Amino acid sequence: MSEPEFKAVGKLVVIGLGLIGGSVSAGLRQRHACQEAIGIVRDQANAALALERGVVDRACLSLQEVAAELGEGDVIFVAVPTLAIESVLRDIHALVSPEVTVTDGASVKGSVREAAIAAFGEVPSNLVLGHPIAGSEQSGVAAANPSLYQKHRVILTPEPSTGAAHIARVTALWQALGAEVLSMSVSEHDEVLGATSHLPHVIAYSLVDTLAHDIGNPNIFRYAAGGFRDFTRIASSDPIMWHDIMRANRGAVLHSLDKFVDNLLRLRDGIEREDGEYLLGVFTRAKAARDHFTRMLAGRTLKDSAALTPIKFRVVAGAPLQGRLRVPGDKSISHRAIMLGSLANGKTTIAGLLESEDSLATLQAFRDMGVVIDGANNDATGEERVTIYGVGLHGLKAPQKPLYLGNAGTSARLLSGILAAQTFSSTITGDASLSARPMGRIIEPLSSMGANIHSESENLPLTFAPAERFAAIDYQLPLASAQVKSCLLLAGLYADGVTRVRESQVTRDHTERMLGGFGCQVTRCDEGWLAIDGGSELQACHIDVPGDFSSAAFFIVAASITPGSDILLEHVGVNPSRTGALDILRLMGADIALLNEDTAGGEPVADIRVRYRQLQGISIPPELVSRAIDEFPALFVAAASARGVTELSGAAELRVKESDRLANMAAGLKALGVSVDTHADGLRITGSAMQGAEVDSAGDHRVAMALALTGLCCDGAVTVDHAECIASSFPGFVAQAKQLGITIEAIDC
Ligand code: S3P
Repeated sequence: MSEPEFKAVGKLVVIGLGLIGGSVSAGLRQRHACQEAIGIVRDQANAALALERGVVDRACLSLQEVAAELGEGDVIFVAVPTLAIESVLRDIHALVSPEVTVTDGASVKGSVREAAIAAFGEVPSNLVLGHPIAGSEQSGVAAANPSLYQKHRVILTPEPSTGAAHIARVTALWQALGAEVLSMSVSEHDEVLGATSHLPHVIAYSLVDTLAHDIGNPNIFRYAAGGFRDFTRIASSDPIMWHDIMRANRGAVLHSLDKFVDNLLRLRDGIEREDGEYLLGVFTRAKAARDHFTRMLAGRTLKDSAALTPIKFRVVAGAPLQGRLRVPGDKSISHRAIMLGSLANGKTTIAGLLESEDSLATLQAFRDMGVVIDGANNDATGEERVTIYGVGLHGLKAPQKPLYLGNAGTSARLLSGILAAQTFSSTITGDASLSARPMGRIIEPLSSMGANIHSESENLPLTFAPAERFAAIDYQLPLASAQVKSCLLLAGLYADGVTRVRESQVTRDHTERMLGGFGCQVTRCDEGWLAIDGGSELQACHIDVPGDFSSAAFFIVAASITPGSDILLEHVGVNPSRTGALDILRLMGADIALLNEDTAGGEPVADIRVRYRQLQGISIPPELVSRAIDEFPALFVAAASARGVTELSGAAELRVKESDRLANMAAGLKALGVSVDTHADGLRITGSAMQGAEVDSAGDHRVAMALALTGLCCDGAVTVDHAECIASSFPGFVAQAKQLGITIEAIDC
């Protein structure tokens, strides 16, 4: 006997067979995902058209004709214009069994909720409000497209009282159409859509209307080229539908429209005053934000970073470094802000988030688990912000596909602590470098908490299945690793009992600090134990991400080794658990001062002034290693340009970073004529004159940037191959290096 075909829904009744409703019906029919598709249409002509186009199996002129046939498992999809919904809901209330699932596709949810309360006296448990983020400027049943929702998002806005079986049925309906289903509250939905969809429609309609009528030149559209067409496409949308939407979401639309008008007037003023700086500021910020969206929309972080356009750096010695700048946001803090913001209750805003391949991979992973994250918005100060609509500790959704984390080790290890505790299964994958990095260090303690993790030889991909029990443990870290510590603290949020971890060496404490900012205290107990209570809820907050000390370190070394240099790096994170490199460079004789010391988002920040001074080789104190772990590639370049010998030991961990940094830095420096002895856990570097040569980053972002610095003190040019990998942490490296006066070119290969 053959298996019965799986049907996402029983009978589907679509009330209002326009583009939205017609596409649902046509899509489910085409995929055989409903028993029968019935359309309720206005007139015979539409009925005939819908049947002829294969949009429905049956067309009726009123709900009454089919209401008695419907029961549990069947779905009514309401797709009439927003302001007509109330009367349709009244009909449903009067005619249809409460076992039938009812859903809608309107662009505004607050007004539909009000309509439901007016019609039913409450939002009934079988009504699941929803909104597909898809459409086109075309309308009517003739525009119905069975693939309209494929790879698009659908937002559901269920109430606490909405029945789980009804939500599951509506979710299955959209998934059968190839859509990704997310959920958020009605008010969040209307605020987000008011700004990102309704406002652009207002602007497009108004622009075309202005050109067509107010400017009054009949020839004007003759000369309108592609830009005009792209920008105003949505002004061809259905006027009735948009009239309804503007009225239904009046408050949120006015709010974003006021902000827009304000901004436009300031721009007008800037043009009138010929204020070039202002105009460039607006245009540059807007371009960056738009590029960011384009990348996010195209899912660029879903690709292997090897797919970035290959480039080489070419660096030659030149003038001293001068000037001031702010390096991009801290990578470690950015990962954590995305994670904790996603798990918090409420809306977290982040200023200064790093937009690099690694942090965008984390961002994408949480979006893949249903978290709504809005890209760079400008706040009142013009600063870019990312907004995360947190789903709470237990609100993540099962991802539809493996979570691809590219090159991002921190993301893989911290996220593992979260995924191990979920009630759904998931898999994480990464690029070739990440797939070779050791994961046993997190698999072992997470497994002793009860996690169910599958891997081949303790490498990615890792697959997490729901744990039967997830219990707190006491864990003494066998190695210095903030990633392992953080992984266990995050897992501890979900464990029964109090999870305790103890480290033998100081490692970065951003997780502990940031958890405190989200209202969850990590307690410091006797003998260095850190403790976190299972079940602690996180409350949304604002995070100000300071500049990344690890990115600043390249310029700190660059200025320290280039005679005559004097630079200021503004608002850099100087958390003492990160600044071992400052101590090491000062021991080597560097001239570094911290100015304007302050705190931002619970993290110490300062401006760092660096002036050139001849460096001396040293034996690096072992207790500084874990606090300088990411800066060794740059420090090896400082050592190569110093007088005498610099020795490092106790740093075997450098062999399992994004690449084997001991081997790859030794190879690069040797190619330039530096004498380097390599040991299992360190290097011995004798400072000397260097000759330009071609060297290789081995696909490691920090090796690429460190080797670029050698060009500052080489006789002849240094070329660094495979330099595109810097996008992991510092995509703007070349532009900022040039700004400080470094002679560097990125050459497309
Ligand atoms: C990081 C911790 C360090 C560091 C990495 C970022 C973090 O790794 O090398 O670049 O954000 O927690 P380990 O914890 O493996 O030492």
